[in-house]
Amino acid sequence: MSPRSTVRGPRSGFLRPEVARLPGYSPGEQPSDPGWVKLNTNENPYPPSPRVLEALRAVGPDLRLYPHPDAEPLRGRIAAFLGLSPERVMVGNGSDELLSILVRGTVGSDGGLAIPTPTYTLYETLAASTGARLSQVPFAADWSLPEAFDRAASRARLVLLANPNSPSGTVVPAERVEVLARAVRGLVAVDEAYVDFAERGCRELLDRLPNVVLLRSFSKSFSLAGARIGALAGPADLVAGLRPLKDSYNVSRLAIAAGVAALEDLAWMRRNADRIRATRERLSAGLRALGFEVPPSQANFVLAIGRADARPIHEALKAKRILVRHFDSPRLRDALRITVGTDEETDRLLAELERIGRVGGGGAA
Ligand SMILES: Cc1ncc(COP(=O)(O)O)c(C=O)c1O
Repeated sequence: MSPRSTVRGPRSGFLRPEVARLPGYSPGEQPSDPGWVKLNTNENPYPPSPRVLEALRAVGPDLRLYPHPDAEPLRGRIAAFLGLSPERVMVGNGSDELLSILVRGTVGSDGGLAIPTPTYTLYETLAASTGARLSQVPFAADWSLPEAFDRAASRARLVLLANPNSPSGTVVPAERVEVLARAVRGLVAVDEAYVDFAERGCRELLDRLPNVVLLRSFSKSFSLAGARIGALAGPADLVAGLRPLKDSYNVSRLAIAAGVAALEDLAWMRRNADRIRATRERLSAGLRALGFEVPPSQANFVLAIGRADARPIHEALKAKRILVRHFDSPRLRDALRITVGTDEETDRLLAELERIGRVGGGGAA
């Protein structure tokens, strides 16, 4: 999954040469016109808790004031949710911001970064921005983490592990992550953006390993992608050391209020995560019935692997105003990453895929 630049053509001569060479991250499409079935960026198909909207309305008059520099009271609520002291948590403008801070804070020209592949494409972009050496080891055919990864990562200053992984949706069990963390010298950051859709995560590792960091996101299970809220949890000295790298007021008053209200209505989040899990199983079964291979997903998306380049299917779906994600890389060329939408969206997608298959538009078989 090599990220491609969204900027084409020559770059400004005012840029530092290292920056001019950087490949940019390509996010999924965000169409501005209505009527799309949007299954390309792993958003939640259900709205956030009504309490979030009430809380946002109440913030209004306070918008003249800067927010708390450490995003209180949200930081304290996230810490309580994770069973940690607030000093061990940093809140960010989405977990993407925290990933960037973490990479800038730990990786330099004196040490590298290791990732299993294919994974979240932003990691490669962040590595490129530091000029650090990037070790990439492919996941095994069953999406488990091969021992070769531990060897390649042993000297890296930072290991990034999306768990559940994107685009596969698969999980590396906490026991295996612990083996990895004990085998490496550097920090292991477990990116748990999708953990609320999984059976379990790696939270327990924070209690016994000094080199593990967790990243959490409010974008997926809490339906708050537009609010931009993420959290990093790790050792207090690391969190304190990273703090100078963040903007003074990196989380807005609106985001703080939204995050607090979302955590006050955990039942809402859990009900939606349950619905998404149920639809995910139906979507996976439907895709398998159409001939796709679908690795067992514990996220709010699935990877549908066919037997030929999946771009024509991507394009045929797009013509029907259904957006899914296709990655132009060798291991993923035959695959589509599909977000779990509502049951109705899933039915529409499966019906369209069946029709495309029948007219010979590049089906799975
Ligand atoms: C693995 C992974 N980590 C982090 C993120 C970014 O999350 P956020 O919206 O909190 O920045 C994503 C978004 O798709 C993701 O797939």
